[in-house]
Amino acid sequence: MIRLVPLSATPSAEVETLLDAAFGTDRQARTAYRIREGVTAIDSLSFAAMEEDRLVGTIQAWPVVVSHNEGADPITLVGPVAVLPDAQQKGIGKALMVRLLDAADAGASDAMVMIGDPEYYGRFFGFTADATAGWDVPGPVERHRLLARIRRPGGIAPVGMLGPDTGFARRAAAA
Ligand SMILES: CC(C)(COP(=O)(O)OP(=O)(O)OC[C@H]1O[C@@H](n2cnc3c(N)ncnc32)[C@H](O)[C@@H]1OP(=O)(O)O)[C@@H](O)C(=O)NCCC(=O)NCCS
Repeated sequence: MIRLVPLSATPSAEVETLLDAAFGTDRQARTAYRIREGVTAIDSLSFAAMEEDRLVGTIQAWPVVVSHNEGADPITLVGPVAVLPDAQQKGIGKALMVRLLDAADAGASDAMVMIGDPEYYGRFFGFTADATAGWDVPGPVERHRLLARIRRPGGIAPVGMLGPDTGFARRAAAA
């Protein structure tokens, strides 16, 4: 029996151990970590999957922007999505994604980007590389794995640079 809880209720050391198990200890060199450098995860879009008292999966989301000539469009960076190797293929990844997308569609985010396998995030969750062809990232990326899911009227700038949204926490506190 899997329970989903807010990630903020889970000790961060346990989350880091799980991420090392899913992605390896060199994961912090990945481009996704540069995109969201210095920002804090979005509470309302970050969840942990518990099997009894064991942490078996996590999903995190981060405030980032696409910077362009006329300004910066806010967008949510999704990931990592991680499930412990011995708990994979049991629907936990899907459950975490569905919870995040439900919260997003209820108002938490109308535009999301991630680096991941299109065979998973496209097939099950509607993420595609269509909108991302003109976006730069601060590091190497396989272009077909830079995926977005955009529901915002008017969309997001087609050309720009992905990077941290350093004003997010201040704006959220003021709202
Ligand atoms: C990718 C991951 C999050 C999926 O979670 P999961 O709980 O194992 O997967 P689910 O049980 O929800 O989904 C299983 C289905 O997804 C498919 N699937 C799982 N990972 C996949 C991948 N990387 N590419 C394509 N398909 C994948 C399975 O084949 C299965 O398909 P089926 O329903 O047709 O049999 C998990 O395997 C994981 O943490 N992997 C290591 C980290 C990683 O690579 N993350 C992705 C980049 S962000």
